[in-house]
Amino acid sequence: MKKVHLAAIVVAGVMAMYSCGGSATQTETASAPTTPGKATGDAVYKKTCITCHQANGEGLPNTYPPLAKSDFISDKEKTIAQVIKGYSGELTVNGKKYNSAMPAQQLNDEEVAAVLTYVYGNFGNGGTTVTADEVKAVRGKI
Ligand code: HEC
Repeated sequence: MKKVHLAAIVVAGVMAMYSCGGSATQTETASAPTTPGKATGDAVYKKTCITCHQANGEGLPNTYPPLAKSDFISDKEKTIAQVIKGYSGELTVNGKKYNSAMPAQQLNDEEVAAVLTYVYGNFGNGGTTVTADEVKAVRGKI
């Protein structure tokens, strides 16, 4: 009888530890002190752009142009428009011509701002911030 009780206590203890550990991890993830824009941009990129432009931003030769060290993105407005509206036809990135099609991305202003800030801040690019207001302004024009 005593043994059974002991076992029950041990099981209860392990379960308590497990559930505590589980919820602690969840809380940590939710409140991780990262830059909000960056975290979202990373998530949007992985969800939306990665299939074509690849994890390293290099794209695929002759099919998907690179975002990594792309000279195209030096024009911020054009880059915002590219994401909102998509583009099909010829375009040149780093001296190479592409003639394919990128569909318009169904993202809100904040998501476009975050993902482009992420692109500008990674893949060997110089780093710049795109704000939701800038995206909104471009959306109003195109
Ligand atoms: C379905 C594939 C696909 C997806 C998804 C996609 N793109 Fe593109 N992207 C392309 C293609 C193809 C082109 C070149 C279009 C052409 O040749 O006319 C392009 C061009 C670009 C360009 C301009 C050229 C360059 O490489 O600098 C930018 C910037 C860009 N994409 C950013 C993004 C971002 C940011 C996302 C995610 C929000 C995204 N794309 C999602 C296929 C895609």
